[in-house]
Amino acid sequence: MSDLAIDGGPKAVAASMNDSWQDVSDQERQYVNQVLDNQDDAYAQLDLFDEAYRAFVGSKHALCMCNGTAALHSAIFAAGACAGKEVIAPTATWHATITPILHCNATPVFCDIDPQTFCADPEDVKKRITARTCAIVVTHLYGNPADMDAFLEIVDGTDIALIEDASHAHGAMWENKRVGSIGHIGCFSMQEKKPVSGLEAGVATTNDDDLYDRMLALGQSGRCGALWQTDRFTALRNMGLGVKYRANPLGIAMARAQLERLPMLNEQRLAWFNRMDSLLNAIPGIAPQKTYPKATRGGMLLYSGTVNPEVFGAPLSVIVKALMAEGVYISETTSWGYSAMHLEPLFNDFSFRGLGGPWADLPPDARRPMCSLPVSEALQATSFWLATPVAPSAEWVEQTAQAFAKVVAHRDRLSKIAKEC
Ligand SMILES: Cc1ncc(COP(=O)(O)O)c(C=O)c1O
Repeated sequence: MSDLAIDGGPKAVAASMNDSWQDVSDQERQYVNQVLDNQDDAYAQLDLFDEAYRAFVGSKHALCMCNGTAALHSAIFAAGACAGKEVIAPTATWHATITPILHCNATPVFCDIDPQTFCADPEDVKKRITARTCAIVVTHLYGNPADMDAFLEIVDGTDIALIEDASHAHGAMWENKRVGSIGHIGCFSMQEKKPVSGLEAGVATTNDDDLYDRMLALGQSGRCGALWQTDRFTALRNMGLGVKYRANPLGIAMARAQLERLPMLNEQRLAWFNRMDSLLNAIPGIAPQKTYPKATRGGMLLYSGTVNPEVFGAPLSVIVKALMAEGVYISETTSWGYSAMHLEPLFNDFSFRGLGGPWADLPPDARRPMCSLPVSEALQATSFWLATPVAPSAEWVEQTAQAFAKVVAHRDRLSKIAKEC
């Protein structure tokens, strides 16, 4: 076997990755141009998108918004989060799953994750439920659905709302249902490199008229008047509660075109994820992110997995350095997103004193103290993600897997490098 590239040997990955998710097609251009050419009717785009997304997910309602964070805020607000209530959420997620809980003046309660799927661990969630719990948010991390059977069972017969953060998981399935139609509300980001993108946009889905109206009331000022399902908020007319999370029609026109080709893009991405899984599973010391038997990945924002530093003879940072030298597009270190939000100052002891809004006079005991979540914390030292194209060449997939095999085969050299660091 040749020397490691870090020692001057040839790179294992010579093939280029060669594509990206947002290669914009003529369809995006056409839909965006239609809005520009017909500006008086621009907002009709929102209705067109909502209908298309609702039909795609299989939910009664869809409501597009200015971003995924707004969708999560609307969902968590609709679930009744307020002072004195708690919302359980996984620590392995993006901060936008959690910050809306603070904005509702409720308390975030972090839960640990399943070490193999990286999604919220239902057993850990059960331990954290109290009389104050009003919602559980689960993140289908990187497009990998959480254990929806277990979470439906947990909320069954309770008043607890189950919110799916499906920001990475457009088109993912649990058995024969699409994510976003399984819990009480589904939230999707459509920002930048998300599987369906309006560059900056989001969408929430629900089957429940009351939850839909509450989301309208919070954030759809200027649009809600035509959409109320019940008479609960009609006195607010088109103003709602005055917050404007309405989406930009240009972004939504782009997202509508992306939604049309999502099934094809998901098929392509799933094919190489499955191939990479089988190649990496055959290499000692590597475990790709696992999927529950009833789940089908969709969206698939990132390909991820864990390495076993003992088998590689070196810590993650050295393994990553060696893989990067081989030409692998790998996360440089575990990013602060997607791993351990419970350790972030914002969710712990950050002082909001002197600021406005609901946090300004937050009593010191309003938030749970920093907790220990051993599975998530341990994963910080072992997990990685790869750059994630749509349809890379077969060579790129094979060579990326070969790079892992090459690096682990040089474990003695890796140990030496680790000692020198
Ligand atoms: C898991 C998760 N939830 C929510 C969001 C927020 O979405 P947005 O950036 O569209 O506000 C993101 C964004 O990356 C995310 O990764």
